Amino acid sequence: MSEEKVLIFDTTLRDGEQSPGASLSIAEKLDIARQLAVLGVDIIEAGFPVSSQVQFEATRLVAEQIEGPVIAGLARANKGDIESAAKALAPAKKKRIHTFIATSPVHMEHKLKRKPGEVLKMAVEAVKFAKSCVDDVEFSPEDACRSEMPFLIEILAAVIEAGATTLNIPDTVGYVMPYEYGRMIAQLKSDVPGMENCIISTHCHNDLGMAVANSLAAVRNGARQVECTVNGLGERAGNAALEEVVMGIRTRPDFFAIQSPGGLTTNIRTTEIYRTSQLVSQLTGFVIQPNKAVVGANAFAHEAGVHVDGVLKERTTYEIMTPESIGLGGSRMVLGRHTGRHGFVDRCRQLGFTLKEEEIEHAYQRFLDIADKKKEVFDEDLAAIVNEEIHVVEHIFDLQYLHVASGTGTLPTASVRIVTQGETKQAAACGDGPVDAAYEAIREATGLSPKLENYTIRAVTGGKEALGEATVRISEDGRKFIGRGISTDIIEASAKAYVDAINRMVSAKKQSEEPDLKVEL
Ligand code: KIV
Ligand code: ZN
Repeated sequence: MSEEKVLIFDTTLRDGEQSPGASLSIAEKLDIARQLAVLGVDIIEAGFPVSSQVQFEATRLVAEQIEGPVIAGLARANKGDIESAAKALAPAKKKRIHTFIATSPVHMEHKLKRKPGEVLKMAVEAVKFAKSCVDDVEFSPEDACRSEMPFLIEILAAVIEAGATTLNIPDTVGYVMPYEYGRMIAQLKSDVPGMENCIISTHCHNDLGMAVANSLAAVRNGARQVECTVNGLGERAGNAALEEVVMGIRTRPDFFAIQSPGGLTTNIRTTEIYRTSQLVSQLTGFVIQPNKAVVGANAFAHEAGVHVDGVLKERTTYEIMTPESIGLGGSRMVLGRHTGRHGFVDRCRQLGFTLKEEEIEHAYQRFLDIADKKKEVFDEDLAAIVNEEIHVVEHIFDLQYLHVASGTGTLPTASVRIVTQGETKQAAACGDGPVDAAYEAIREATGLSPKLENYTIRAVTGGKEALGEATVRISEDGRKFIGRGISTDIIEASAKAYVDAINRMVSAKKQSEEPDLKVEL
């Protein structure tokens, strides 16, 4: 008996990017989309094209450059949104328009100010119009889980008749419980006329921490597409985490065999999960909590003596998945200052980085600098070095010199030298701490003072010589920019991250990227 597929619809670039504070440049979105294709997702929701010029362009470029997955664009149930999505998706070989309208009484009355009959008509017209633009149309009754079942059945039957082939059932506000959601999916599967020829999809938010459990309950009851995001990013508490959904299905095929005697599987290359998770975390600046399921730093760490003893005797005593299955561990190679250029490039390739000639040169020099300070360079260090090199923006401001003095009983002071357009700017400042002093000096030297929204520092690997990675989020005029910096010196990493964020801000302004309009969903 053959296995049945559960399609993985990744919405990291659309719903995930709606996370408060997450903002990705177009180049970063393309990098993530490329990695999602390597990961093997079936559908990439690349954006909400009508919402801004940046969203439109990002969707268009993903459609043009990413091969393999179906590329989807979101559109409200109106002609303008659908036209914009169709235009942005035009270059894609496989494309889907995902159109939606709210169906719960509270949304229809207060947000849409429409009667159910009007909503139904809008949904049908939208699906028909989308179908005239592309073959593959998905429909979502927003806030489905707080909608009345008879209306839900009626609207789903009508949009199927109009041409929708994927019916998504969003738990927009993360309200339902797994048992309820599973039952709901089973009822829609049996009671909606035409559903037998369509795919039922789940889209669960995590407000009560149920997003993954709800998605899997839906799968058990017949859903064959899961909408999810890498690391569970998304509005408020986020969406269902892709890695948890996929590993849940892979680890417990027996549980799903009820609906599907041959078992269930996905097209995901699970060994790419860890790399994808790290990339998304680095580019969005959202640090992964250590105890996060599947991809957290402690997910495969055994501390208690009894557990360590058990795992040493027989791994499966305390491990239900192997670290290798998500792309962790295996052969951990350690590089050092004697590793030649060839060895460096080779290891980068094994880690999945394909670098252009000039990127290799920069990254290798950077590697040598770090290897000079740090005897052993681990894979995680290498990934951080390479990511820093390949996600560079134009160095409008180049931090050439930093000196910081701080200690008990002294006022922290910093001086910096920054070169911009051939001109050298120097500044000195004091602050509450060494990072604050460095940031004040950078503000003086650049003449820019964006608001610092968030600052994090983490050790890339363990040990006293660990590489520090600083991530900052700054904002100006409502737009947010993320900057990263790595160094064995955490103050230097912090200063580099701040300058990187400022460079991204100035570069975006230069390209006069329109701010997102934040169109109401
Ligand atoms: O959460 C939600 O309802 C959505 C829809 C647009 C699918 O994101
Ligand atoms: Zn959503």
